Amino acid sequence: MCGIVAYIGGQNATPIIVNGLKKLEYRGYDSAGVAVLQNGKIEVRRDAGKIARLEALIAEQPLSGSIGIGHTRWATHGAPNQQNAHPHLSSNGEIVIVHNGIVENYLSLRDELLAEGAVFHSETDTETIVFLIERYFAVTQDLAKAVQLTMKRVKGAHGIVVMSAKEPDKLLAARLGNAGGVAIGRGNGEMFIASDLPAIVEHTREITFLENGQMAVVTRQGVSIQTLDGQKVPAQIQHIPWDPVSAEKGNYRHFMQKEIHEQVRSLSDTMIGRIDFDDYRITLPDLRLDAAGARGIKRIFITACGTALHAGLVGKIIIEHLTRIPVEVMVASEFRYIDPIVDSDTVVLAISQSGETADTLAAMEEGRRKGAKLWSIVNAIGSQAMRSADGAIAMQVGPEIGVASTKAFTAPLVDLYMLAVYLADLRGNINPAKRFELIRDLLMVPTLAGKTLEHEPEVEKAAAKYKDMRSVLYLGRGINMPIAYEGALKLKEISYIHAEGYPAGEMKHGPIALIDQDLPVVVIAPKDAWYEKMISQVEQAKARGGKVIAVATEGDALIPTLVDEVLWVPPVPWLLSPILTSIPLQLFAYHIATQLGLDVDQPRNLAKSVTVE
Ligand code: G6P
Repeated sequence: MCGIVAYIGGQNATPIIVNGLKKLEYRGYDSAGVAVLQNGKIEVRRDAGKIARLEALIAEQPLSGSIGIGHTRWATHGAPNQQNAHPHLSSNGEIVIVHNGIVENYLSLRDELLAEGAVFHSETDTETIVFLIERYFAVTQDLAKAVQLTMKRVKGAHGIVVMSAKEPDKLLAARLGNAGGVAIGRGNGEMFIASDLPAIVEHTREITFLENGQMAVVTRQGVSIQTLDGQKVPAQIQHIPWDPVSAEKGNYRHFMQKEIHEQVRSLSDTMIGRIDFDDYRITLPDLRLDAAGARGIKRIFITACGTALHAGLVGKIIIEHLTRIPVEVMVASEFRYIDPIVDSDTVVLAISQSGETADTLAAMEEGRRKGAKLWSIVNAIGSQAMRSADGAIAMQVGPEIGVASTKAFTAPLVDLYMLAVYLADLRGNINPAKRFELIRDLLMVPTLAGKTLEHEPEVEKAAAKYKDMRSVLYLGRGINMPIAYEGALKLKEISYIHAEGYPAGEMKHGPIALIDQDLPVVVIAPKDAWYEKMISQVEQAKARGGKVIAVATEGDALIPTLVDEVLWVPPVPWLLSPILTSIPLQLFAYHIATQLGLDVDQPRNLAKSVTVE
């Protein structure tokens, strides 16, 4: 699983591919490699470690040619070492592949190939694919046919790019299932291929996305698409509006810090085009919904993974409160295995930054199979979760590079709020005065996020005090209960400190046994309906010698007298408070990890977009 970049044109492919891989390093970064056709022969450079290692290797053993493929890996089969790094060559060295996905039947394919005398050089499943292509090429003498025949044999979901010394003027790309995207970009006499757009948007914005079951033959002149059965399909070109500068770090030390600070802008960007200021209405035209459709919805299933799931848990409370439509939230990796009650009156709403998370896409497919309407809230424009939905809300926040999600957590909170107001309006649950009030409150949020960020120096100081803790408990209630989960997830992802999020009321049913002077407790206690109850949790923790860090509302005079540390947020109506309370917890995790000297943007073992089940 990984990032893929490929090039064919008139320039030297190596620097174009390596620079593209750097843009994808956030996706997988345990090893990387490039293969280029140099003087009619395929040359491969690859190594364990980050792209910098690969660059050093290329500096020692230069590579040049006008067609090539590259890969940055997140290991699934076999350790991250040089042999397992992609690209992988065929036995005769004439075909080379980069691959995103898992060959589910690789053990049986490997046995079959071993019986024919194949010699494997890696522990990866990918080698079985290139060996099969080699075998079918020997029979057909046609690379496209060999790739098609091979894709029929491999089970699972895959994105591949193949290059051959025998057919030196083309690259072949294929997509089977949901193992991440394959985007093909047009230039002038040159073409680019990538699993993710940040790798190629500086060169081209004219993009064709491969759909499930399609193969592309890419030459310097263009692309032709066919199904894996050989049926021609017209290539649809989309213009991508992203600004490549927004994928650079600027003055910030890390992408994560930049993305935390960008929230002032991203929170308003996600509202652009969705608020009608003439009569204070939300409009979400890409949902393709009318009043009758909105009234017909009997249930909403929100499905997502990781941080996006936590956004969904907040969304449930907002949507149920404003519309009274029952909302269930389900971990995407469970959705298709537990036979959820979904029918044509149900909406399955997927939330995904990347729009390519395999579990989330599989949950959408299950929703489709059961006849539900599919909606998605997605950041990556053109991703599968956006394309396969009946209606979508784009986050509109630009690429998120830090592996720990921040701006792509708060943007969907705004989107879910807008969705709830929109549905409530269409269904007649709210009157114009209420609608005005809800929208007026929302419009204040970017400014309030800016005010929250002004407290960063205090958060940084608190982080210095607590950075050596071994374990932390996060507690929240009501609409801020999911923020306890999210705060704990941020900390564990980037600092490797054990952290658990808990509904505050559950503390007495178990976790309280853990509390002593060595287990700090973070309580999310803004001034809301649950405030008094949160104060009693604080008292219970203090009575057992626990150190307490509180996220609290500016002006609260009581809480500083009770706790050890306060992370302040400005006052805000309760439905919007998770957007603000999550920010100091992002900063807290960020500063702890940086003070521990850890790689914040690329934490160990994680990947930005998990395209395997
Ligand atoms: C990975 C990332 C998480 C992310 C999750 C869902 O596990 O490391 O940060 O929340 O995938 O990603 P998605 O792109 O679907 O939002």
